[in-house]
Amino acid sequence: MIEESRREFLANCSALGLSLAGFGQLLEAGCLTSPQQTPGPFYPEPAISRQRHNDTDLTRKLGNDEVARGEIIRVKGQVKDEGCRPIMGAVVEIWQACSSGRYNHSRDENQAALDNDFQFWGSAITGPEGDYEFLTIKPGEYPGRTSHIHYAVQAKNYRPLVTQMYFASEGRQNARDGIYRRLTQQRREVVTVEFTKQDEVQAGKFDMVLSGNG
Ligand SMILES: [Fe+2]
Repeated sequence: MIEESRREFLANCSALGLSLAGFGQLLEAGCLTSPQQTPGPFYPEPAISRQRHNDTDLTRKLGNDEVARGEIIRVKGQVKDEGCRPIMGAVVEIWQACSSGRYNHSRDENQAALDNDFQFWGSAITGPEGDYEFLTIKPGEYPGRTSHIHYAVQAKNYRPLVTQMYFASEGRQNARDGIYRRLTQQRREVVTVEFTKQDEVQAGKFDMVLSGNG
């Protein structure tokens, strides 16, 4: 009986020790890492890294005067490490559906109209404050998914991040989305962005936190 109590006591200590250590790390770390989410089946072809670098305006295609259909939005933010320090020189890629909810991808069987004036991808390199910015349009929903923008971020010495950004205005659709629902409440808050009107367009801030790869 005594032995059993001792073992139980040690087990409790160990559990408590672990949770205290975890808590300590969290306090020290300061910034919660962004959740990894599926890239989905529609990552652009050819790969964004083989297109133009640092092209941050998806609303216009190079050499085309037309503007993409849909609601123009500006999404900006910072890429940081777990200590909340900005990461300069990170490569941020985004890809998404056009306003009708269709991707410019051979595997997308959605019959919605493809917006040929929309550039379905963008690429940015973060500045000294880890800052990036894109001008794009609010992507349409497509069967089974709420509105979202795909992100891939790479920086030297950090684990590559693949994630998705969601719109706070789409609360009901988000709540029905299987991929969104897989996230904990805390992580849902990290990837759900509130947009407000600034300089004539809806603008939102989406920060991302990378974990070290060491
Ligand atoms: Fe998608």
